[in-house]
Amino acid sequence: MEKHRPDPIGEMEFEYDVAELSSSLKIVKIAPTSDIHYGNPSCSLRHLNQHIEYIKANPEVFTFLNGDMIESVTKFSKGEIHKQVGSPGDQRDFIVKLFKPIKHKVLGVTQGNHERRIEDVDVAGDIAQELDAPYRAEGMLLKISFGGGNAGHPEKPYAYWGYFTHGYGGARTKAAKAVKVERTGYWIHADFYVMSHDHVVNVSPDIYLLPDNRTHIDKETGRKKGKLKAHRKMEVKSNAFLKWGGYAEAGGFPPSDLTTPLIILDGKGKPRVRVEV
Ligand SMILES: [Fe+2]
Ligand SMILES: [Fe+2]
Repeated sequence: MEKHRPDPIGEMEFEYDVAELSSSLKIVKIAPTSDIHYGNPSCSLRHLNQHIEYIKANPEVFTFLNGDMIESVTKFSKGEIHKQVGSPGDQRDFIVKLFKPIKHKVLGVTQGNHERRIEDVDVAGDIAQELDAPYRAEGMLLKISFGGGNAGHPEKPYAYWGYFTHGYGGARTKAAKAVKVERTGYWIHADFYVMSHDHVVNVSPDIYLLPDNRTHIDKETGRKKGKLKAHRKMEVKSNAFLKWGGYAEAGGFPPSDLTTPLIILDGKGKPRVRVEV
């Protein structure tokens, strides 16, 4: 009997998470939270508080925490240990306290390289647990559904796919930073992708064409043909809540945008994703 080659699909144990939001929502806006670096003297609490107030005040706005929530300088890591505000544990507790009032709006949590500095305790996981939010350290694929009226059924919600991961490595140019999120789009099917870590905002739409299985007879040639459907991927690099100066300025990094890009899921007719910066 013929032996089968191993099936790579069967090896993938990556599961997605699900956010089922209210059926009364017609639109959902996601303001990603990333790179707060709480504990770093340059962290802008004023902007962070405004961000949280914005999420709290608007029923259609949600967020997820995409890593580097805390600065977490340890004895063995980079960073100025004597200048950080509180210990990494204090910083974790502060983030929990800040996001608790909007915990029902935190759709997921991932881990950044700053949280990863602490090896034996997963502080990002602690934050997720305290906020009762789904957690996956390396990245999360999220199915977001809300509203009704999909395909003409009043009770059928619209569903969107979003993938977010903290990011990695260094890059100097905007293009080198942006291509890292573009690459995640080669690997996972989603409507939007968010990567953080580089502290520089970038938004780019990419279209790819999907063949539809259904065929028809072409009137002119009499041959079978099929149509292609366009799928739009929005690739987003998110901001940081760090004011310029210190490490960033001395190292030749640009000032960060202190407001987040806004991902808009607009469920009228068919899934559409827009991003406002
Ligand atoms: Fe960061
Ligand atoms: Fe980072």
